[in-house]
This record gives sequence, C-alpha cells and structure tokens, in this order.
Amino acid sequence: MSEKPPFNFDSLTRREHLALLAAGTLTACGGGSGGSSAGPITLPSPTPTATPTTTPTPAPTPTATPAASVHAVAAAKGRRFGSAVAWSSAGADAGSFANPNYAAMLERDCGVLVAENELKWEAIRPSATAYNFSRFDEMLAYAESKSMLMRGHTLFWYVEDRFPNWARGYSATAVPSVTDLVRGHVETVIRRYGNRVYSWDVVNEAIDPATGQLRSNSFSRLAGEDTSLIDLAFRTARAEAPNAQLVYNDYMDWGGGDAPRHRAGVLDLLRGFRARNVPVDALGIQGHIGFYSGQTATQVVDSRRADWIAFLDAVVALGYDLVITELDVNDSGRNGSIAVRDQDTATLVKGYLDIALSYRQCRDVLAWGMSDRYSWLQSFAPRSDGTPQRPCPYDRDFVAKPMRQAIIDAFEASPALTNAT
Ligand code: XIL
Repeated sequence: MSEKPPFNFDSLTRREHLALLAAGTLTACGGGSGGSSAGPITLPSPTPTATPTTTPTPAPTPTATPAASVHAVAAAKGRRFGSAVAWSSAGADAGSFANPNYAAMLERDCGVLVAENELKWEAIRPSATAYNFSRFDEMLAYAESKSMLMRGHTLFWYVEDRFPNWARGYSATAVPSVTDLVRGHVETVIRRYGNRVYSWDVVNEAIDPATGQLRSNSFSRLAGEDTSLIDLAFRTARAEAPNAQLVYNDYMDWGGGDAPRHRAGVLDLLRGFRARNVPVDALGIQGHIGFYSGQTATQVVDSRRADWIAFLDAVVALGYDLVITELDVNDSGRNGSIAVRDQDTATLVKGYLDIALSYRQCRDVLAWGMSDRYSWLQSFAPRSDGTPQRPCPYDRDFVAKPMRQAIIDAFEASPALTNAT
C-alpha cells in the first residue's frame, strides 16, 4: 500500500543485478516480497483433462498437451502467472473462456485473469449516466469458478482516443462534471466487485511517450491539465478498496527512441504520487516487447539491460511494487523461419523476465493473451511479410511454443518469495 513508508527491501543493487544476470546465476534471494496485500496465492484447480474434450469447428485441436502448469511453477516461487482473456459470443472460435480449447489453456496455465477490453469505459459506459457490467460479470464468474484471481483493467485509460464517443470532447457545462464522472466511475465499479478484484490498473497510460509529459484529454482539459483526476482516481479507489493493489499501468518500453523520455516522465509521476501521498502500490509494466532494427534477442536484451535495470531500481527505491501486466512479443522485426522466430522470441522473453523476476517486488506476470490466433497484434501491428505475428505462449493451433517454456524457465530461475505479501 502506498500510504505506508517506501519499502526498504534488500533489493539487489544495479551492479548486483548486472553481475548476476551477466553470469546467468540469478538464484534465490529469500526474504519477503514487496507486494501489497492481495491474500494468499491460489492455485487454479487441477485440470486432469487438459486436452479439450470438445472440438468445435473451426477451432483447432491441440496436437500436444504440455506438461505442468505455468502458474504452478510461478506459485512454487510465491508468484503468479495469468493472461488477458476476452468475452465473445463467438465462443467456439474466440480468445474467450467460452471457447473450450482456449479455456483449457487458461485453466492449465493461469492463476490470474484480466479482461482484455470488458472493463474499459468503452465497454461498460454506454453513456455518462449508464453502466453495463454483463460481460465482465460473466468473466469474473468464470474466473471464480476455476479458482483464478481477477485483475481489473482499467478504471481510467487516459488516452482520449480510447474514451467512448460521448466522452470525447466532453463539454465544460455537461453534467456530471469530469470530477464527478471519474469519482463516480471508480466508486461504482469498485463497489460492485469489492474484494473479488484483487488488483486494479487504476490509471492507464497517462504519460505521453513523445514528450514525457502528462497527456491531455477531454477530461484533463476541463480539470486544469494537472494530475488532479489521476490523484482523485487513486484516492477514490483506496477508499473503496483498502486491501486491493492499486496500480499505475503504462507501456514502459525498455528500448531507445522515445522510451527514455517516457520512462523519465513516468518516474516524475511516481515521485509526485509519493510527494502528494497518493495511494499507488505498484507500477504496471505492460511488457509489449519486440524486435527492432534487425537485432537478435540477445542483442536486444544486452543493449537494454543497464538502462532498464536503472529504471526499475529507481521505481522500487520509491517503494513501488512491479507487475508485468501485458506481456507479448511483436516479432515484426525478426525474419527467418518460424522455428528461428519462435526460439528468438523465447530468448527475448527469458531475458526480459529474468530481469523483472530478479526483483522481489515483481510477483505477478500476465500475458496479453495465450494464443497467437487471437492476439491484438495481428491487427494492430501486422508483419510486413504477411505472415501472422507469433506473440503468445501458444500458437494459433493451441500448441505450446518455446515462449511458454521460457516463461516457466524464468519463474524457475527466479528468487523465491515468501508468502508475506
Ligand atoms: C488492446 C486490446 O488488446 C485490443 O483488443 C483493443 O482493441 C485495444 O486495446 N495497452 C493496454 C491494453 O493497456 O488495454 C491494450 O489492449 C493494449 C495496449
């Protein structure tokens, strides 16, 4: 919780991280996690029939059923693994729990779910005065029926393009005011779900990567272009959910270009939360990583490691926990055979997670979808060679890829956390 003093864990120094990671010898550090209180870790129910029993067309049947469970491996280290999932009426061929083959992957590997879109304003706010919770209700009921925890994404996506139509260009004279809108939204959503959602992405993407400054949107323009609505969202969330983990979530690209400016802007925001005593527990690092400039995975990791660790050190030094909230790999910049792409994606994920999980403050890792078949990157970032992206732990036919094993390997290599979360 953020209203306690900053954590003073014996987290590894930057130099120790670099040395251990370079030597490939990250081993158990012991000690408590820096986590906010989210209760004991719950394993999903075992799924003895991991191979789907129904095979509706056109959904494919997996040809290989992987052993173990990613979440079980994570849980053995006091950590959690999960994924985004969508609601869909298409059922039989959707990245949804309504698709039995997709559900089998979730139930095998996930201890946590997050709704890919179904809790966003666009989904639940048809107007300034109305709510529609039906899809998220269904998703939460599913998660609970499988003993999976649920994250909430997101109470306030700060990007105006992601506002529902009625909220874009919101008028200064409209009722409710933007202050009442934001407060009312956070109150209403959290009150409805109470402790059933253990961790909230309260605010998403408030810093403009191009400038490192706060973004401007139709609400912030009416509120004075300052952090007041962001602070209000967190304060309201804490009042409504005193035991939930409250997360500021953002891209946190670990590369060059705009990324250093963006990271500096996020650090400023995080420092400001502490200075104003705004209750924020963790930085959500989306983890949409990828290949750029023809670099191999090893080159990508090596070229980013030092700056990234310096950033993560600064974040945890402020007393924040870390959550990898949306892990996937854009392999647009990686050519070669499928086998080469998949192997390098796995190497990239292992390198990325080795760094993240070397922090005891990083307990939870969520993939942004389990199967390449339904990844948002297929439409958001299509490859120029026309072949589908391969961003997820399973391929489009629900066969486990090297990326899944890389996630397991990273959890296995990570320091164990105690249950003192
Ligand atoms: C994406 C979804 O995956 C898409 O289906 C949707 O069309 C747009 O949003 N960062 C976030 C997520 O915080 O909410 C985004 O999800 C991906 C980028």
